[in-house]
Amino acid sequence: MHDQPRYSGQSISEFFADGRELRPPVAGTIATTHEVDNVVLSGRGNTGWVHEIPAKVVVRNSGLAALAERGQTRFNIYCAPCHGYAGDGAGSVNRKARVGSFVAPSLHDDRIRHIPDGQLYATIANGIRAMPGQGHTLKVDDRWAVVAYVRALQLQQHLVAQE
Ligand code: HEC
Repeated sequence: MHDQPRYSGQSISEFFADGRELRPPVAGTIATTHEVDNVVLSGRGNTGWVHEIPAKVVVRNSGLAALAERGQTRFNIYCAPCHGYAGDGAGSVNRKARVGSFVAPSLHDDRIRHIPDGQLYATIANGIRAMPGQGHTLKVDDRWAVVAYVRALQLQQHLVAQE
């Protein structure tokens, strides 16, 4: 019982033809958590950025309202420090970052209001110019959730501005 035959890490195996005891994953293995739909993963279709959050993401997250609600919690953690809770660029990091390009813009800027959902998704995933990507902290569906919430914020602030 005490001394059972076993492999130690990185030891040699006589059982496997390649002599390796640690087995590499079968070629083509995909983690069950990996997003296999390239459009959902990248925000891009054959003709460019997708204009709307992919329907399958909305459905598997119990609808747009639930997705936006989830997005609010992620936005407040991962975006608000720079862009502000209202997305107006009044985050605490911004108040310190008085060096031009490090100042996060207001998300209510007319141009940003009109970028396609896929482009907003990719900005979150990969970052853009001085903005670091948030892909390492936000999983695929959470990035789309933030897109849903940013759209809700933009709509709300736009209506407020029109009043
Ligand atoms: C560390 C601070 C920081 C964080 C965190 C951050 N941003 Fe940014 N963001 C920036 C800065 C700085 C820019 C301007 C980049 C530039 O133009 O060089 C920017 C730009 C943007 C833009 C405009 C892109 C364009 O087309 O010009 C969008 C949209 C945006 N951020 C969304 C988000 C969202 C959503 C999150 C949260 C997931 C987020 N950002 C998190 C700093 C940040």
